[in-house]
Amino acid sequence: MSVPPSSFKIIAVDGGAAVGKSSTSKALAERLGLMHVDTGAHYRTLTAALLKEAIEPEQPNLQARLASMVLETELKGRSARLSVNGEVPAESAIRSPEVNAAVSKFAAISAVRKALFKYQRGQADVARQNDFAGLVMEGRDIGSIIFPDADYRFFLVADEATRSARRAKEGQIDSIADRDKLDKARKNAPLICPEGATKVDTGPRSLKEVTELVLELIESH
Ligand code: C5P
Repeated sequence: MSVPPSSFKIIAVDGGAAVGKSSTSKALAERLGLMHVDTGAHYRTLTAALLKEAIEPEQPNLQARLASMVLETELKGRSARLSVNGEVPAESAIRSPEVNAAVSKFAAISAVRKALFKYQRGQADVARQNDFAGLVMEGRDIGSIIFPDADYRFFLVADEATRSARRAKEGQIDSIADRDKLDKARKNAPLICPEGATKVDTGPRSLKEVTELVLELIESH
């Protein structure tokens, strides 16, 4: 049975690196029957593909290379993943130290953001076509640029020590403070708390507590 258009919900979850966007978004998707999209993985996937071709962020043929890439969606359960030229890269390939170090440099380039804008907006159609009750999309500019018209917009924050500890627990080499600095300073779609978004501090809360709090906020909206 199709989801009536009026009940289809879009939830935007933004915030810096390692604030708990992915775990919170996945939990919301489970609880509310939504499709989950991690746009950080989109930037990582493009970065991995460009690095494979030895393309640097400032290279003049970057735009042409991006234009030649076929972007499609592969669904795995509730999770929609970006495929480039028919391939979804392994998690280990998009979370390597090389990709961690380069992704924010590529993400600051307007040609890269333009290559993803239509694709990311189109994820709402993918969710509708696959009969999800809505879409939860996480990133840096979801509530500000991709879906400023989202039904609910959240901005997650956490203290530095908690965030570093989370990354270390995942066994990743990742300079989250450097990435945040680049993401906040860039001209194109900088990392900001969108006007009207609800701030949620995940530092002192468990995943279960954050999820319950966000669900309560959605219900009382
Ligand atoms: O979410 P994650 O930490 O995997 O994102 C990796 C990088 O992708 C971010 O540091 C940022 O540079 C970029 N990004 C972005 N806009 C988004 C999502 C991610 O610029 N919506």
